[in-house]
Amino acid sequence: MTMTMATTGHAGAPPASSALRRDLLGLQGLHADDIRAYLATARDLIPSASGKGMHRDALGGAIIANLFLEDSTRTRLSFTLAAKRLGADTIDLTGAGSSASKGETLRDTARNIEAMGVDAIVVRTKASGGAALVAESVGCPVINAGDGRHEHPTQGLLDVLTFAEAKGRLDTFELSGLSLAIVGDIISSRVARSAIAAFTTLGCRVICVGPPTMAPKGLACLGCEVENDFDSVLREVDGVMMLRIQFERHGDATTGPTAPAAAPTGRTGSLREFRAFHALTQARVKLLRPGAIIMHPGPMNRGLELDHAVADSGASVILRQVSRGVAVRMAVFRTLVRPPQ
Ligand code: CP
Repeated sequence: MTMTMATTGHAGAPPASSALRRDLLGLQGLHADDIRAYLATARDLIPSASGKGMHRDALGGAIIANLFLEDSTRTRLSFTLAAKRLGADTIDLTGAGSSASKGETLRDTARNIEAMGVDAIVVRTKASGGAALVAESVGCPVINAGDGRHEHPTQGLLDVLTFAEAKGRLDTFELSGLSLAIVGDIISSRVARSAIAAFTTLGCRVICVGPPTMAPKGLACLGCEVENDFDSVLREVDGVMMLRIQFERHGDATTGPTAPAAAPTGRTGSLREFRAFHALTQARVKLLRPGAIIMHPGPMNRGLELDHAVADSGASVILRQVSRGVAVRMAVFRTLVRPPQ
């Protein structure tokens, strides 16, 4: 992998100062070889991610700053665990309790954290492009842990790793001949953008499925197909990745996870309609190909985008995705962070 250039993966020319940068800001635009290199490193670290193996000194003495200005369970804890598995230490800042509440900008927050002498910053923010802003503001490696609707690159990598493992493609990560349906609130989803980039770059056919308000035809410019009829694709795919309906990104305060079933979501006619046409129910699972897997990045709205029994079924690899997230984040640290001399 060429690491003399920034692995930004976002549109537009990188800033001149980024010639020697080591960031992971997105998967869009990343070369297949770079994606495969992250995945191969993660594959080799799977035993260490669960506590076996000898990588505890790899980043000994390094300090990773987790800057999570938006809530997280999986991503935040798995970045922390990945750092510890490699012998690094972590410091944490969340939105609640930080001086962001007093009006400090993201750029100033990041520069102050860097001034304390950290070796990398992991950032999650509601602002699309926020991770790139941080990378332009500091000299240490920056890893995007999810920025608004833009990208969630480590999630995209762990999704591919999990899928490739289930399909026996861990040797080369060549995914041609395979198909994945990504279903639900695509338009709000940074997970979908990163997944579309990674899966299509590795040769997988990706079909984005949802009502037109959540899966508009214009998404095809990302390299995927777009389909509004979920039932028509069930027999065609090797995996289904359901997405959470992201009420908080719809800009409609009247809706939320506790909204009544017939309430408008702002992006579909009603939750009842979404359940009827786009939820992964037990009845729809019966129409999937044998061996098709069920994925979800979490957190799940159980009983909405998928049935409880589907989430917990033998075809579900949802908890394996979480497990592989630790290996992926270890691989990203191994690739981008240099331990202090
Ligand atoms: N998948 C994901 O990003 O989950 P968290 O929001 O819990 O980190």
